[in-house]
Amino acid sequence: MSDLNTLVDNTTATLQRIADEFSPAVFASSLAAEDMVLTDLILKAKLPIGIFTLETGRLHKETLAMVDRIRETYGYEVALYKPETVAIDAYVAQNGLNAFYDSVDMRKECCRIRKVEPLNRALAGNKAWVTGQRRAQSTTRAELAVQEDDVAHGMTKFNPLADWSEEDVWNYIRSNNVPYNPLHDKGYPSIGCEPCTRAIQPGEDVRAGRWWWENPDSKECGLHVVDGKLIRIKAVATS
Ligand code: ADX
Ligand code: SF4
Repeated sequence: MSDLNTLVDNTTATLQRIADEFSPAVFASSLAAEDMVLTDLILKAKLPIGIFTLETGRLHKETLAMVDRIRETYGYEVALYKPETVAIDAYVAQNGLNAFYDSVDMRKECCRIRKVEPLNRALAGNKAWVTGQRRAQSTTRAELAVQEDDVAHGMTKFNPLADWSEEDVWNYIRSNNVPYNPLHDKGYPSIGCEPCTRAIQPGEDVRAGRWWWENPDSKECGLHVVDGKLIRIKAVATS
């Protein structure tokens, strides 16, 4: 097992470097466990890295309630980016409210409207963005680097928890009393939109409950891929 103190020190150093050298920078928080670790590290160190959530309109109420928990715990207001109403209305009128179950294309189009377009708005004008992705989360993240060139968004992308295990995340949360989404205690290790996330059974892959009806290789929502390809072609060596 990795030494948690070393991981925390390295991650804090990465976040400090982002604040010093990549300002303005923002952190995309899904409000799930990994992102609460980063939220805790950023806000306790008072780093000038803005935190936002893509409020897709289909999140669980427990997930949205984390925005209130963050305000109560840290006195910080997470910025919410919402999809364009016109695009949502057109998609629903044409395809129905839950068309994402019909095909991977329909699913990706919903993710494009509810996540990818708002993400582009949230990232505009920044030099870097930060995510809570970890290498061990899925086959599609096996080569994740801490620092990458995000060619698609024309900025640097940081995944400061790339080396962390799920156990590291929970050890940090418990030992620092970090607030977390109660769904994690009900069989949801990975949490996305409510209709596209379900609880998993013990022993199942951590992302088995995300878009569970799809093949594991298609299970990315477009936040971290472009045209079906991973954007992490150019990993940058970290010091
Ligand atoms: S997803 O891309 O398949 O949805 P996952 O839920 O594992 O990914 O989250 C990976 C990272 O993507 C999170 O740590 C966070 O940085 C970002 N992310 C995912 N969903 C959101 C969201 N709704 N708002 C902001 N960031 C998000
Ligand atoms: Fe739509 Fe599901 Fe993607 Fe959320 S995760 S944007 S509901 S397809």
